Amino acid sequence: MGMIFRIILSMQKRLFLVGYMGVGKSTWAKKLGKAMDLPVHDLDQILESQLGMSISAYIQERGELAFRKLEKQAVLDCKDLDGVISVGGGTPCFYDNMAQLKQLGHTVYLHAPVGFLTKRLQDSFKAGAQRPLLSGVDLDDYAEFIGKHLMERQAFYAECHSRIAVDKEDVLARLLECYQTK
Ligand code: S3P
Repeated sequence: MGMIFRIILSMQKRLFLVGYMGVGKSTWAKKLGKAMDLPVHDLDQILESQLGMSISAYIQERGELAFRKLEKQAVLDCKDLDGVISVGGGTPCFYDNMAQLKQLGHTVYLHAPVGFLTKRLQDSFKAGAQRPLLSGVDLDDYAEFIGKHLMERQAFYAECHSRIAVDKEDVLARLLECYQTK
């Protein structure tokens, strides 16, 4: 295969990281980007820079539905990006976003058990991170909320091309394999 052709092919490759809040989508996107020298994008960050405010502030001001509409457009705009793209926890669960993501690239579901996510999200709340969907939820009720919410979203996440159990597998090795072989 010619060099230029290879470069073009690799430029067009997109890997989407999907999964519940707190599972580490952005962190793993950065690690894979560094390991493979790939561009790294974060859909939440793209939206925040478009909005000029945090997603939290936007949802508080305009409501979740308004946010989901912008998010839908941001998914479509991914056609102009390449490399590794982490999306929001709810992105695949609205409109036909999951089908769009699958058409645009290889989708990877980062899976973790409720206990793992609960601990991560409690720690991140204590460290000051704002997650609008958890804003009314008492820290002691996180496990119950997350368990129910994850069940509702599972069907969407399960549509991804690949699945990695972040608490059990060598995540970077699996991501490299997904990127190189898909
Ligand atoms: C959301 C997850 C957030 C962000 C928004 C809604 C969700 O992203 O998109 O607050 O519905 O799960 P992270 O998964 O990166 O926290």
